[in-house]
Amino acid sequence: MTCMDTVVDIRAADIGERERKGGIGQFFTSSMVADFMASMFGPLPQTVRILDAGAGYGMLTTAFVARCCAAGDVRAIEATLYEIDGQVLDVLNAAMRDCGRLCAASNIRFSFTIHATDFIHEMSTRLTEGLFGSAPPVFDAAIVNPPYRKIGVDSRERKSLHAAGIDTGNLYTAFIALIYRLLAPDGQLVAITPRSFCNGPYFRSFRKDILKRMELRRIHVFESRRAAFREDNVLQENIIFHAAKGNRQPHEIIISASSGKEGGEITQAVLPFAEVVHPEDAEKFIRIPSAVDHAAARETLSGLGESLASLGITVSTGPVVDFRFRESLRRKPEPGTAPLLYPCHFNGGTVCWPKLDARKPNAIVDNAKTRSWLVPSGTYLLTKRFSAKEERRRLVACVFDPGRVKAEWVGFENHLNYFHENGGGLEPALAAGLFAFLNSTVVDQYFRGFSGHTQVNATDLRALPYPGRNTLQTIGRELPAFDLAQNEIDQIVGRHIHAG
Ligand SMILES: C[S@@+](CC[C@H](N)C(=O)[O-])C[C@H]1O[C@@H](n2cnc3c(N)ncnc32)[C@H](O)[C@@H]1O
Repeated sequence: MTCMDTVVDIRAADIGERERKGGIGQFFTSSMVADFMASMFGPLPQTVRILDAGAGYGMLTTAFVARCCAAGDVRAIEATLYEIDGQVLDVLNAAMRDCGRLCAASNIRFSFTIHATDFIHEMSTRLTEGLFGSAPPVFDAAIVNPPYRKIGVDSRERKSLHAAGIDTGNLYTAFIALIYRLLAPDGQLVAITPRSFCNGPYFRSFRKDILKRMELRRIHVFESRRAAFREDNVLQENIIFHAAKGNRQPHEIIISASSGKEGGEITQAVLPFAEVVHPEDAEKFIRIPSAVDHAAARETLSGLGESLASLGITVSTGPVVDFRFRESLRRKPEPGTAPLLYPCHFNGGTVCWPKLDARKPNAIVDNAKTRSWLVPSGTYLLTKRFSAKEERRRLVACVFDPGRVKAEWVGFENHLNYFHENGGGLEPALAAGLFAFLNSTVVDQYFRGFSGHTQVNATDLRALPYPGRNTLQTIGRELPAFDLAQNEIDQIVGRHIHAG
């Protein structure tokens, strides 16, 4: 994918003009960003009622119309535009007439209404009056680059917003909060806004409100702070988001990023929604991980020459499905049993066994029926198949050291994957090297970049690129312990895999 550049002022801007613009939050979107925003919409109804609030020169509606004409999936577009600045209305009118011509050539009916009024005041009033006033309009789609500026506690805007049940201190969040109240169920919003609402106490109530009413589908970030408004010299970090009206957040969300330079590449990753907004977070911070990191991780790992198969190592899912062996399971180890390991035995990079206070059994009877499901003791590398949502890393690996758990045979339960060589243990330095590699941030980011699931299957682990055996052994020998901090693991792994 390519695209995206900057938001530019299409008029020459002298100092006076700049000040005037600042007052009403007037920064215009370039056609390139507008096209990109229009491309983010999902399927649309046959007749689309589109809202462009704070329309400026109509760049966004123009891009939306061009997208519909190219896609050929709608029959009619009814555009509603709000713009308070009298000086831009002629150009806005002309732009909408151009849209009409474009639609006519594509057999799409097009109509438009420009309201030269204050969007905040008008919509807050209509939403407040409800049944007793003029009912607020309903839209299927909205595309917006709202003005932004703080709105004081005693301002007229703040008071009318408050009456409509909206409590927010910036024009841009006020626009967005009004817009999604006007959307039909499933109605879509694509907005370019400052990133500031994603965290901080100032926007807490806005975040709660939007996450209650809108399903966030995609967030696009500009890597460079100045990228999106470079020409206007605005120091704001901007994002574009796509959301749909509804109250069930998706399981996965797309995070994409671009440099903001013309023709620059767009990187993207699919992540569990719970990683972006933690379900237990009372602040409802919207944490946008860097899609750029995912791309960098992909590049680093694609430089590694080995696969598990070429290393002669196999990864398998733990063969002991516990409910099939119910009568052979034992809470405590006893003579004639073998250790049985579950994810609950993972402890600081190694195995802590037995865990008598755990809900899981610690042992399995070693007899003719169970023996073929056990493995001979040795050094194994274990990973969890299901990582808990709150776990920082998707991939969680630990080393099974036969020196710490004395036994001839061991059982690995089905919620684990284990790395082995021909069904037996690994050479200890190799296991330690794999431990560091699989627990490194770069592998975690690589993983997240292609999988939105929190599940790590043996097939996923087989598909990973790996460093060579010598590199893994060197990493393993350099590891001073297993209970290292993340940055210590990353430093050791980074020294070897970035150096090629
Ligand atoms: C950031 S500019 C974006 C313009 C245009 N949508 C674009 O993307 O190029 C915001 C626009 O909102 C207009 N505006 C500011 N406050 C407004 C209000 N209360 N009601 C309607 N329009 C407003 C400004 O005049 C400006 O044209």
